[in-house]
Amino acid sequence: MLLPNYNEARKRSKEEVKKEYYHLEGTIKNIGKEKKYYIKTYGCQMNEHDSENIKAMLEELGFREADNYLNADLILLNTCSIRENAHNKAFGMLGRLKHLKEKNKSLIVGLCGCMAQEEKVIDDIMKKYKWINFVFGTHNIHRLPYILEDAINSKKQEIEVYSKEKNIVEGLPVKRASKYKAYVNIMYGCDKFCTYCIVPYTRGKQRSREKDEILKEIVELVKEGYQEVILLGQNVNAYGKDFDYHYNLENLLEDVSKTKIKRIRFMTSHPWDFTDGMIEVIKKYPNIMPSIHLPVQSGSSKILKLMGRRYSKEEYITLFNKIKTIPNVAVSTDIIVGFPNETEEDFTETLDLVNYCKFDNAYTFIFSPRIGTPAAKLEDKIPIETKEKRLNILNEVVNKYFLENNQKLVGKKVKVLVEKESEKPGMLCGYTDTNKLINFIGDKKLIGKILDVEVTEAKTWSLDGKTC
Ligand code: SAH
Ligand code: SF4
Ligand code: F3S
Repeated sequence: MLLPNYNEARKRSKEEVKKEYYHLEGTIKNIGKEKKYYIKTYGCQMNEHDSENIKAMLEELGFREADNYLNADLILLNTCSIRENAHNKAFGMLGRLKHLKEKNKSLIVGLCGCMAQEEKVIDDIMKKYKWINFVFGTHNIHRLPYILEDAINSKKQEIEVYSKEKNIVEGLPVKRASKYKAYVNIMYGCDKFCTYCIVPYTRGKQRSREKDEILKEIVELVKEGYQEVILLGQNVNAYGKDFDYHYNLENLLEDVSKTKIKRIRFMTSHPWDFTDGMIEVIKKYPNIMPSIHLPVQSGSSKILKLMGRRYSKEEYITLFNKIKTIPNVAVSTDIIVGFPNETEEDFTETLDLVNYCKFDNAYTFIFSPRIGTPAAKLEDKIPIETKEKRLNILNEVVNKYFLENNQKLVGKKVKVLVEKESEKPGMLCGYTDTNKLINFIGDKKLIGKILDVEVTEAKTWSLDGKTC
């Protein structure tokens, strides 16, 4: 048994990060024979991509994917810790699984992802959820086959969570959700320690993946017919800062661009590390999409300071204006309301910033205290009703700009990567260069292609169009 420890997780050692390759011992390759698995994924794209790796690992063990958790022999929850409601969703699902497990004793249930890195969660699992068969963390996904084998053989609860990151593991198999766009990790962890955020504890220190590994993966994707890559990291602008040679996101974007992949996106950008050089690279290469996710969190410099974000409102706006010089660029953001000590004036400053930036998209949240983070220790006097009111007001304002920005596209031609049939009958859907969802009538044969679509109608969260 290996349990997580926050004091360890918080440390940032100077130890060199090594690389190792995933290798599966032959003996356990059939533990999943004739069995089905189901993975429920919560949280960000990083977690979704981890699930793509986990699925492929389970399939190497002989498991096949179940279409519903009710038909599965193995159920795995890949969890997220970012806010209380992510926790609640996972615990709610565990409640349902407990009943299922009472009826079907041979059902195997596992938990992984960011919640597995939390001391309190593991404590609860050991005391109140003894029926969960196994737990592993974000740093030892590659150990899943062995942990699973132990759980099956020992019939005891197996918990193996590393508090700290170890090597970067290359060569994990992957079962991608899409045949046309692919997530590619470029870095792991985060060293920013924004005061409200749990990620630096659950994902460990910042480690960049070697450029050769990234490029090899993308060249392979191009050969397989992929049209789009999404370069992933909690703070991609800091890519390469941990290398002992000079190679950063600017260099990587140029090199990825030269692989001839049709579309490149990257996320998430922290304003702190966004350089002028990056803006130039984005302008220079047409396959780097003009769509930037640039979380602001708050429009009040006082609150930004308390959040440990390392920029003021003015600095954010300066950067925003520079980014806006990229032709046709769309900028999206994340905003937290109700951070401890946020006054009406601070909140008004956030609204002012939104009115200035007129974001193309924004994810808005109420501050959720996370155990172990500095912000959770701040006295929080704002009543929940006030926080909810602020969130509602903010949502109304951001939504107004989503619609306004979309309306500007009506009558124009946009390039779309057609992804699948839309939920709307008879229609297809895909995303524009600027990452806007568009539904349009078209033949299924168009799926997987990039084509021009004329925008016919604008809605708040999507566009309608017709092929040209
Ligand atoms: N690495 C990204 C963000 C990752 S988390 C960045 O720095 O921009 C995604 C978003 O969740 C954050 O941008 C923030 O808006 C929100 N978030 C993170 N921790 C939160 C908390 N404790 N309460 C509420 N929202 C939070
Ligand atoms: Fe969290 Fe800040 Fe790191 Fe983003 S940059 S993951 S908000 S600590
Ligand atoms: Fe959640 Fe972990 Fe991602 S906390 S947002 S799944 S890095």
